Order: sequence, then structure tokens, then C-alpha cells
Amino acid sequence: MKTHTLLMPLDMHLHLRDGVMLENIAPLSAYSFSGALVMPNLVPPVTSLEDIKAYKERIVAAVPNDYFEPYMTLFYKNYDKAFLESVAGHITAIKLYPAGITTNSEGGVSSFNVEEMRPTLEMMSLLGIPLCVHGETDGFVMDREAEFMSIYELLAKNFPKLKIIMEHITTKAAVDMLDKYENLYATVTVHHLIITLDDVAGGMLKPHLFCKPIAKRPEDREALLKVALEAHPKVMFGSDSAPHPQHKKESCGCAAGVFTAPIALQLLCDVFDKHDKLENLQAFVSDNAQNIYGICAEFKEVVLEKRPFVVPESYSGVVPMYAGETINWAIESVE
Ligand code: DOR
Ligand code: ZN
Repeated sequence: MKTHTLLMPLDMHLHLRDGVMLENIAPLSAYSFSGALVMPNLVPPVTSLEDIKAYKERIVAAVPNDYFEPYMTLFYKNYDKAFLESVAGHITAIKLYPAGITTNSEGGVSSFNVEEMRPTLEMMSLLGIPLCVHGETDGFVMDREAEFMSIYELLAKNFPKLKIIMEHITTKAAVDMLDKYENLYATVTVHHLIITLDDVAGGMLKPHLFCKPIAKRPEDREALLKVALEAHPKVMFGSDSAPHPQHKKESCGCAAGVFTAPIALQLLCDVFDKHDKLENLQAFVSDNAQNIYGICAEFKEVVLEKRPFVVPESYSGVVPMYAGETINWAIESVE
């Protein structure tokens, strides 16, 4: 039986939610990942030191049986120097959402005025706090990410010492930006390596594949695959696994988000194996993130096996990608 071992897998973009959802969902990531960058788009969002500390405590309490490092993030606003100094030791990044662009982002940034943002972004540069960005405009849905490239350029040029992470990139346009600016990095999800818009809406509508940014064209997926499979050093895995209750997905007015956390490593093995690039998966799923963020989580050794695995129909009322279908890799052991 073919196996593949991953050391210290890291998910550098994860939605864990709060309350009962957090309690149900966090253990699924904690089982196979050593750590994850936890998104701050709660209701209300994570915007104070008290919020960060309390949310981290709730995450740790939700995973009593596993070692799992929650790398905390703060919801971007124009914060002052004293505040940033006080939170710097408690966060790994600050996450910027354009206002209203996705789930719980109403309090995000409504205009990208560099001078208004300068004090915050310069202080972040100084303190070494990376800026993670949900890079979409409010334009036509297929063009939103490509349209956002000029804003990435503006930020990258004006704040050359700021590490800017283009989150969950879905386009060739974003891939092309990586080598243009030294301070631009990216996360890539597993679902965007697999699906295109055709899988979401080409036949019967698939609500569980609907997310923001929406999956794009085959040539975009090819561009993402290229940098992921070669484990481009500025690219790292971030699942953007985003759990919503089944009734919020299977309804008229489907919430955005694909839930992949419990099958992410299995799907990644399949993608890399199919392209004969399994040897590069370790860098994509851990080493690059360690280098980019300067982090090192607790050791975890995950052995995956190439054998059929039937994905559960639901995890505590959340329907995963490929629910009820058979995938090609399974987790054999975690130590
Ligand atoms: O599809 C998405 N779901 N995209 C996001 O940016 C947010 C996420 C969520 O929180 O559900
Ligand atoms: Zn997200």
C-alpha cells in the first residue's frame, strides 16, 4: 500500500467559528494539523486584546485531546501604535477584509486610502506583523480578484517592509503578482486546486462548493496548480475551510464557504500524487509557512495511505466537500 508521511502540517487560513460550532469543528483540524492561522471574522469580529486572548482560550479548550497551536489574527481596522504594540506578542497576523465582501466582513475596509492606512501599516511593518488580505473588489464576481491586483500593488509598493499575504488566490493574475513584488505571498486552498466554476454551477448547482472567491477558469486552476505543485517558496497551504450549518448552505441564499478541514490532507495527497509531485507536498503544507511566518509548531507526524475513503455525509451538521463520495487517500495514523 502506498503511503506518504507529512510532518507538522499547518493550515494557514482556517475558520473555526465560536460556541458549539467551534467545539464540534476545532477537533477535526486539531486531529491532523499541528496548527492553523485562525480567522477573526466572528460576530462581532476579533478586534481587541481581550477578544484575542479569550478566543484563543476557547479554541484551546475545544481541543482537549490534541496538541494544536491556534495562530491568532486580528480583524483589520486602522489601529494606533500603542494598541498594535500591546497585541503584537499575541497575534501572528492581521486580516483585512474589504467591507461586505464575504461572511461577517461588514466592519471591514471600505476605501483603500493609503494615507489613511499608513500609520497602521507602517507600524505593522515595524513590528513585523504580516497583513493577510481577502483580495476582492465589489465588481463582477469573476473579475473581483483580478481587479484587486492594483490594490495589492499599491500596498506592496507603499509598504515594502510589510509582509502581505494574498489569501486564497484563485486566478492566474494573482499567481503572476508573486514574482513581481518581494513582499507579496499567497495561500492556496485545496478546493481551488481541484474545482473550477463548472463544478459549482456548470450542472446542477452545488452549494457546498460555493465560496468566496468563487472558483474560476481552468487556466486559473492550472496556474494555481503550477505554484502549489512546485511548492513555490512564497506559496503555502491555507484551507479556508469555512463551516456553515447545512440549512445555511442548502437554502435560497447560500452562505459562502467550502468545508474541507477533515479531508484536506487526504485531498492534497491525491492532487500531488496525481501529478507525481508528492515530494513537494511537505513544503507546501508546512515548511513554506514556517519560513514565511517564522513559526514552528509542535511535532506531529501524519501518515496517509492511498486507499478508498468514504467521506462522511456530515460532521455535526456541517456538510463537507465530497460528502458521501469516495476519495483516494485516507489518514492512517497521527503521532
Ligand atoms: O467562502 C468563504 N467563506 N470565503 C470567505 O472569505 C469567508 C468564509 C466564511 O467565513 O464563511
Ligand atoms: Zn477565509
